[in-house]
Amino acid sequence: MSAKKTLNVGMVGYGFMGRTHSNAFGQVNKFFDTAYSPVLKAICARDRAKAEAFASQWGYESVETDWRSLVNRTDIDLIDIASPNDTHAEIAIAAAQAGKMVLCEKPLGRSAAEAERMVHAVESARVANMVWYNYRRVPAVTLAKRLIDEGKLGRIFHYRAKFLQDWTISKDVPQGGAGLWRLDVKVAGSGVTGDLLAHCIDTAMWLNGSIHRVSAMTETFIKERPHNLTGKVEAVGIDDASAFLARFDNGSLGLFEATRYARGHKALYTLEINGENASIAWDLHDLHRLQYFDHADQGDLRGWRSIHVTDGDHPYMKHWWVPGLQIGYEHTFIHQVADFLKGLESGEWAAPHFREGLATDYVTDAVLKSAKGGNWEQVQGPAASSEN
Ligand SMILES: NC(=O)c1ccc[n+]([C@@H]2O[C@H](COP(=O)([O-])OP(=O)(O)OC[C@H]3O[C@@H](n4cnc5c(N)ncnc54)[C@H](O)[C@@H]3O)[C@@H](O)[C@H]2O)c1
Repeated sequence: MSAKKTLNVGMVGYGFMGRTHSNAFGQVNKFFDTAYSPVLKAICARDRAKAEAFASQWGYESVETDWRSLVNRTDIDLIDIASPNDTHAEIAIAAAQAGKMVLCEKPLGRSAAEAERMVHAVESARVANMVWYNYRRVPAVTLAKRLIDEGKLGRIFHYRAKFLQDWTISKDVPQGGAGLWRLDVKVAGSGVTGDLLAHCIDTAMWLNGSIHRVSAMTETFIKERPHNLTGKVEAVGIDDASAFLARFDNGSLGLFEATRYARGHKALYTLEINGENASIAWDLHDLHRLQYFDHADQGDLRGWRSIHVTDGDHPYMKHWWVPGLQIGYEHTFIHQVADFLKGLESGEWAAPHFREGLATDYVTDAVLKSAKGGNWEQVQGPAASSEN
């Protein structure tokens, strides 16, 4: 293969996602044959000592403590935003204006209004852009997409998804600051709606098309928590739990739930789709399996099959080990980088683009509005299509 083109990466944030993304850029060409060679050029975080330690552990060439300096560097091609939600818009817009490619963690904005400005910035600057909705690239979920697109399920009646955690049940958990910014509404934008349901909504619209109407309820079980940055007890502004009914454009009905109050669950993301001819179910705890029920099977043998998605003809799997050996969570990010680099090569940029991230934000906005007002809400923006 001819020499690869260098792609200089400037990463913002060295937390949970900073690690998954750094790993993905480092691993991608060991397993996928792409035309680009990502170089971990600079890591940006506010604490220089910690950023330097991260740079030496992960192989970054340099450190920045202000994202503005990073964005203005002429030796950076791509800005990757792996910092909290309140930083996404400002960094992404500045990066696009500086002509950089922009990858951004989810949710794209804290609201659709914020995400609209981000879409405008990347589309006006015509820079490659992508949102890290990585669950699309779990091989079993990608296989579900393939089966649906082939028409195996026939008409779809139901889409059901939930994302359950239990880490904020104690009233002693503070809000705000490192690790706990998710509880501070000013930083996060919302609670589980933007954090967990956003994943469920992105996967759902990818597999089953647009959502145009929702009816939701949310609850904040613990109303006040000490704030790490101010030291005061402050009102909690996020939703601790969020559930909604949805109508999809294809006529199917959706049922979604996310909470951080489901004792015993750490990260249980499950989805199930029921069609006329077949059903599909998937569970993040068993992410390499796809459950599949085919009504066309011989009657006395009919039943749910558990497909071990590890064979060479399964999505992404020929790039890994040998059939029968499974891969895990971190690989979804490697797949996303591989697809991104292939998209640069072909000129057809890999999805989800910022515009799809915005579509999810329109749904989460409608969910929060419905929960507040108690009414069914039409999803605004390009995703909205028909009354139902
Ligand atoms: N795709 C997924 O599955 C997934 C999973 C977790 C988090 N996320 C998203 O990723 C983003 C980061 O979440 P996380 O869990 O990695 O958070 P984290 O708290 O583990 O890490 C955040 C990092 O951002 C840095 N940071 C904060 N403000 C900054 C600033 N102004 N300039 C530079 N760096 C700054 C912090 O120092 C830290 O290194 C969030 O938007 C979150 O919603 C996505």
